[in-house]
Amino acid sequence: MGKAKSVSRLAKRTRAVVVAPEIVRQRRAADASDIANRSAEAKLAEAVGLARAIDLEIVGQMSVRISTPRPATLMGTGKVEEIRAAVEAAEATLVIVDHALTPIQQRNLEKALNAKVLDRTGLILEIFGARARTREGALQVELAHLNYQKSRLVRSWTHLERQRGGFGFLGGPGETQIEADRRLLQDRIAKIEGDLDQVRRTRDLHRQNRKKVPHPVVALVGYTNAGKSTLFNQLTAADVLAQDLLFATLDPTLRRIKLPHGTEVILSDTVGFISDLPTHLVAAFRATLEEVIEADVILHVRDVSHPDTEAQSADVAEVLRLLEVETGETGRMIEVWNKIDLLDPDHRAKLLDGEGSGRAIPVSALTGEGVDTLLDIVENRLVGDRPVYDVTLDPADGAGLAWLHRNAEVLSRGEAKEEGIPLTVRVSPRHQEQFLARFKLAG
Ligand code: GTP
Repeated sequence: MGKAKSVSRLAKRTRAVVVAPEIVRQRRAADASDIANRSAEAKLAEAVGLARAIDLEIVGQMSVRISTPRPATLMGTGKVEEIRAAVEAAEATLVIVDHALTPIQQRNLEKALNAKVLDRTGLILEIFGARARTREGALQVELAHLNYQKSRLVRSWTHLERQRGGFGFLGGPGETQIEADRRLLQDRIAKIEGDLDQVRRTRDLHRQNRKKVPHPVVALVGYTNAGKSTLFNQLTAADVLAQDLLFATLDPTLRRIKLPHGTEVILSDTVGFISDLPTHLVAAFRATLEEVIEADVILHVRDVSHPDTEAQSADVAEVLRLLEVETGETGRMIEVWNKIDLLDPDHRAKLLDGEGSGRAIPVSALTGEGVDTLLDIVENRLVGDRPVYDVTLDPADGAGLAWLHRNAEVLSRGEAKEEGIPLTVRVSPRHQEQFLARFKLAG
């Protein structure tokens, strides 16, 4: 199943101007505005970072102080004119406003700036849309987007109504236009909900199929750009099972791989996490992260070469908390410190010898360094305490072989010899007694 095309994507390298509005409700003492200024800078930097995440070319950026939000354009005409000049000078075709905009504000700004305008939620949805690798994910993104637009439509409608009660002369689109917009959105929402139902039914079928193959699931999570996909490819590249057709056609972000001692697992890549994820989007994306919620092992991939690595890690933990993913269980979460190839020797030594290094696995998904150790540790977490036995099986004992496949893990099967077929099997504590009573240990 390829990427769904139902959400319109921005072209790569679109020239964009990023605007970070800062609503200053009351101007007070000078030091208060100082604080506001600093946070405005940080806000702008973050917005620019997000925009870069979807391959936009940022040709301009500015913070805008707004003392009275305008219903028509959010900011005053002077600011709008300033932005228009910047857009024109930089030949930008897109303006990202890092704030929520009503559809009316968006439309008015687009007209005034002669460029497409995207607000913060729109930007986040673009990012998720660009990363949604399954049709279900893409549909969910679009549904979240439409519901968001619809809720704002309702709000701005009641808002206008209230205003009209007081001042009959206020402009803005009339009720009929808003009603028509709402109907259009509602139609589209109904259509997508239908599509989603369809996709979910198909997925449930696949999931049931997968449940028949009781492999543990190992899920990759991490901040956007941490290197999850690179690690996913690194972990699956060397393994023939990774080409496994059932899973390859099912979902490109799921692969079956074999760990060093033969344990088969399903590896699941996920969408990158970001800071300040609007709560209504968390709910919408919960279903795309089902693999994580059910995973036996969660690999939290961190870019330890990034200056904000701690904050990013906290953001990931927060999203997992919002998704109600239980990470406290012993052994379920493994931290993977990625991009160690980018660290200078001093930093590297300090990090790898320092506090916390014991519970984290340093790797470079790019060079492959540390990846074998990581696989060993994952396998150990999953089955480390289960004993492995060599047995010799009577070739006529078909029922015995079936029992082993059903209740134990057959790690290897040798050439049949006179005394029988040599097998190496791993047995869970639950089946140990039965196993020892039924099979002949080799040697
Ligand atoms: P999202 O899809 O945004 O969630 O990103 P991701 O976590 O899947 O990251 P991805 O694998 O796309 O990697 C992001 C960037 O980091 C790419 O340019 C990779 O080439 C680079 N990268 C990943 N791992 C490493 C690494 O170990 N070392 C170096 N130097 N670069 C890496």
